[in-house]
Amino acid sequence: MSTILIGGAGFIGSRLARRLLERGEHVLVIDNLCRGRRAFLQDMPGHAHLEFVEADAADPDALLRVCTPFHARFPTAVVRHMAANSDIPAGIADPAVDLRDTFMTTYAALQVMKTLGLKRLAFASSSAVYGDHGPETLLREESGPLLPISNYGAMKLASEALIGAAAESFLDRALIFRFPNVVGIPATHGVILDFIRKLRTSPGRLEVLGNGTQQKAYLHVEELVEAMLFIEERASGKLSLYNIGPEDAGCRVSDIAEAVVARVAPRADIVYGTEERGWVGDVPKFRYCVDKLARLGWKPRLSSLEAVRRAVEEIAAQEGLC
Ligand SMILES: NC(=O)c1ccc[n+]([C@@H]2O[C@H](COP(=O)([O-])OP(=O)(O)OC[C@H]3O[C@@H](n4cnc5c(N)ncnc54)[C@H](O)[C@@H]3O)[C@@H](O)[C@H]2O)c1
Repeated sequence: MSTILIGGAGFIGSRLARRLLERGEHVLVIDNLCRGRRAFLQDMPGHAHLEFVEADAADPDALLRVCTPFHARFPTAVVRHMAANSDIPAGIADPAVDLRDTFMTTYAALQVMKTLGLKRLAFASSSAVYGDHGPETLLREESGPLLPISNYGAMKLASEALIGAAAESFLDRALIFRFPNVVGIPATHGVILDFIRKLRTSPGRLEVLGNGTQQKAYLHVEELVEAMLFIEERASGKLSLYNIGPEDAGCRVSDIAEAVVARVAPRADIVYGTEERGWVGDVPKFRYCVDKLARLGWKPRLSSLEAVRRAVEEIAAQEGLC
């Protein structure tokens, strides 16, 4: 088996790369390192089967130049597309960011797949495609209307649409995974890392964006990778779409702030803002329905809060806090 893993030097991509290498796959990681790190790919099991190329995956010609020789040596079974802009506020400030890193990477991946005759795609989408339906609405795969409130969500939704069209014309198999908030290491971004870094700079005070009542589903990265591979093995059909997440209603930003303060700076004051949302484009509360995934046979072991608590420990260690 061999995989082309786009965005594979990032947080989730590098954890997926590790898992694929453990099961003996040849893996080509393509990443422009705008957020990912080569160091995340060090000490991988079966590292002789790992190749890394630094390239802009939003450029179809560059992507084709990288993929062609790898595919000639190791006929590629699956393209796994994990690249995107992961800084939602940056994409609100400048829509070109998500057009390039969240959408054009998908466009380029599909172009290359068509040219090389690659037929299987696994795509990292997001709960952000749903937009803001309020905390009472249980978001199912078929929920709509899909009206994202961030450029990131909009470009993920546009990517899903393009994949749908490609499945109709030349793909044999397309899997779209809608992730919730994913936590763990190596952390490149996210609320836990932000809080820890803020507390390192000012250990007496943690300023939280928003009033702390934002409530979302959190999943540990280890379980996310397990779920993706499980779905790949079990799901049938040309185009499959799955919410991946915990079964609970999520946890609050105030729970996360308290967990980080308790671990990193127990005497710090937590100072909340007054807004319901943390930033423009933030969906303050959402509730995921993961029944489809449960019916397929997979459930996470950790609740949102357990995943967060575990990630707080891991990220504190990553940041050198013993
Ligand atoms: N982490 C989460 O909570 C979460 C939630 C929902 C969806 N997702 C999706 O999961 C995927 C992985 O996210 P992550 O959290 O690991 O983020 P990440 O930023 O750590 O990883 C994304 C990787 O893509 C790379 N990349 C970005 N633009 C690129 C380009 N033009 N060319 C080549 N490489 C490029 C980055 O360098 C990075 O290594 C993304 O598609 C993201 O949208 C993540």
